[in-house]
Amino acid sequence: MSEIELGPTRPLVPPLYCSAVYSFPDLDALEAVYRGQVSGFVYARDAHPNAVSLARSLASWESAKWCMVTASGMAALALTLMALLRAGDVVVASRRLYGRTLQLLTEELPRWQVHTYLVDLDDTAALAAALARRPRLVLVETLSNPTLRLADIPRLAQLCHEVGAHLLVDNTFATPVLCQPLRLGADFVVESLTKMLAGHSDVTLGAAFGREDEAWERLRRVCTIFGWTGNPFDCWLAERGLQTLAVRMQQASRTAQALADWLAQHPRIRRVIYPGRPDHPDHDLARRLFSGNYGNMLSIELAGGREAVNQFVRRQDKIVLAPSLGDVRTICTHPALTSHRYAPPEENAREGITDGLLRISVGLEPLEELQEAFRRGLDFADA
Ligand SMILES: Cc1ncc(COP(=O)(O)O)c(C=O)c1O
Repeated sequence: MSEIELGPTRPLVPPLYCSAVYSFPDLDALEAVYRGQVSGFVYARDAHPNAVSLARSLASWESAKWCMVTASGMAALALTLMALLRAGDVVVASRRLYGRTLQLLTEELPRWQVHTYLVDLDDTAALAAALARRPRLVLVETLSNPTLRLADIPRLAQLCHEVGAHLLVDNTFATPVLCQPLRLGADFVVESLTKMLAGHSDVTLGAAFGREDEAWERLRRVCTIFGWTGNPFDCWLAERGLQTLAVRMQQASRTAQALADWLAQHPRIRRVIYPGRPDHPDHDLARRLFSGNYGNMLSIELAGGREAVNQFVRRQDKIVLAPSLGDVRTICTHPALTSHRYAPPEENAREGITDGLLRISVGLEPLEELQEAFRRGLDFADA
């Protein structure tokens, strides 16, 4: 296809570069691109313009020196672990993590001779004992899935650095609008862009972030070899979504706070978990670490267990049941049957991930519409 002449004009919207491969005028040009002497691209699995452009925008959001865009949030996590760990290494991780992350740590990493110790971050003695094992990496979620507990990132960073460990933070639930872990002392961050960052449930992507060039080289190499780069169209969509991230998060956080306070008064709701409420166990920490917003995620426990959840989902059609989060629409998820279905039942019981627990990802609808949906969904007779 011939080059289209744009003259002095430029597209207002960034172009989408679908090409899987790039051509060269001769071998000298090819060699110069490989050597990094001139800018350019070779093969989309290594890098492509849409990933580079998205990575730049994301790095500035996370106050990171670099960002690498991957094919999913799990790919970003796998990439960071594969790049930083060696056989024989120890990882310490919070017990309160996304179910697939727990599986990666406890079921897959042992095949690479990496052992993970899971700890309750509230248990200072257990954390100290785990850190005494000299881990290479400590992994926590800023805001844990689905019980929304906070990690005290500045304190953890200090403890990690005292024993020579890196602190890796999954910032998916908080997003950089609420919290930028690298500013608080974390060494690496991962995000699922599939959620709030892209924001419309039409993208599957992730990103890894850091602040040292040395680690960047290592991650770039592993990402290319394992083939984890995100695809151009998803990167293009995510960059578009990112432009409204701040307004979406601010609006959804305001609605989530009002909704959480309103739901706390409802007789069919046993428990409301929202970091912006004074009854949340980490409310003071959230006030300290977050930007003044407490996020769009809240969890509720329905008094009637699984049947009450079924009734709620069947009786109204505004808040759909879908195992994800971060959409412009409000969606609900049943963690016991989805994100945490593979976790040991006793662990779920310990964390309060019961049959009645519903995780709500608040979207951009007016508060009154959501209240009406809850009124309808919870208006049923007890069995
Ligand atoms: C906290 C958290 N981290 C990571 C992931 C994985 O992201 P992805 O689905 O983009 O692989 C999820 C997915 O739900 C998540 O909730």
